[in-house]
Amino acid sequence: MPTSHIPVIAIDGPTASGKGTVAHRVADKLGYHYLDSGALYRLTALMAIRRGTDLADEHALAKLAEHLPCSFVGGDVILSQENVSDAIRAEEVGNTASKIAVYPTVRHALIGLQLGFRKAPGLVADGRDMGSVIFPHAQVKVFLTASVAARAGRRYKQLIDKGFSASMEDLLMDLQARDDRDTQRAIAPLLPAEGAHVLDTSDMTADEAVDAVLKWHASAIK
Ligand code: DC
Repeated sequence: MPTSHIPVIAIDGPTASGKGTVAHRVADKLGYHYLDSGALYRLTALMAIRRGTDLADEHALAKLAEHLPCSFVGGDVILSQENVSDAIRAEEVGNTASKIAVYPTVRHALIGLQLGFRKAPGLVADGRDMGSVIFPHAQVKVFLTASVAARAGRRYKQLIDKGFSASMEDLLMDLQARDDRDTQRAIAPLLPAEGAHVLDTSDMTADEAVDAVLKWHASAIK
C-alpha cells in the first residue's frame, strides 16, 4: 500500500530545542502517530555501550542498528523486553548517539524502520533529517531552534526533574559540541530542509510553538 498520501509533519532541530515536546503535543492534538527518530540513534548507542562495541567500528554499529530489537509501547521505549525510556536519555547515551550518527551505514540501516512509522491518519516525525532525507515530501516541514543558552536551561531542568545530576557549564559545552558534530557531518547534516518553516522558540512557550505548527498544518492539509 503506498503511503505517500498519509500526511507527515517533519519537525527537525538541534538538541533540546523543544522539538520533542512540541512534536508530541502536535501528534496528540491531531491523533497522529509519533516518531522519535533520535530514540533510534540512542537505542543503537545504548546497545553499543552495553556491548562494548568499538565506536570506530562503523560496520559493527550498522549491524546493531539494522537489527534493533526495539518497540514503542504507549510512551515507552522497549529494547529486548526492557523498558529503556529513561536509560536512553542519559547524557552519555545522547553523546554516543551523536557520534555514531555520523556514519552513513548506521543512518542507512535505520531508514526502513523510520519509514514504517508513516501510518494513517498521519505522522509527526521528530529528528534532524526528517524533512530533508527521510520524508522529503512531508506536507509540513518545521525547523525548530532556540539559543544555546535557552536549550541548556531546558535540558538542565529536564535532567534535574528526572533526578539526574547536571552541571550547567558541562551542558553548555556538550550542547555546543553536539551541535557542531550534528551540523558539520558530511551526511544528513542538521540544516533546515528546503521549504521548512524556521521557528526560534527561545522566547516562546511550548503551546505557542504548537499553535504555530498546527496553523501551518491546517493550511497545508486543506
Ligand atoms: O534528538 P536526540 O537528542 O534524541 O538525538 C540524539 C542524537 O541522534 C543526535 O545528537 C543526533 C542523532 N540524530 C540524528 O543524527 N538524526 C536524527 N534524525 C535524530 C537524531
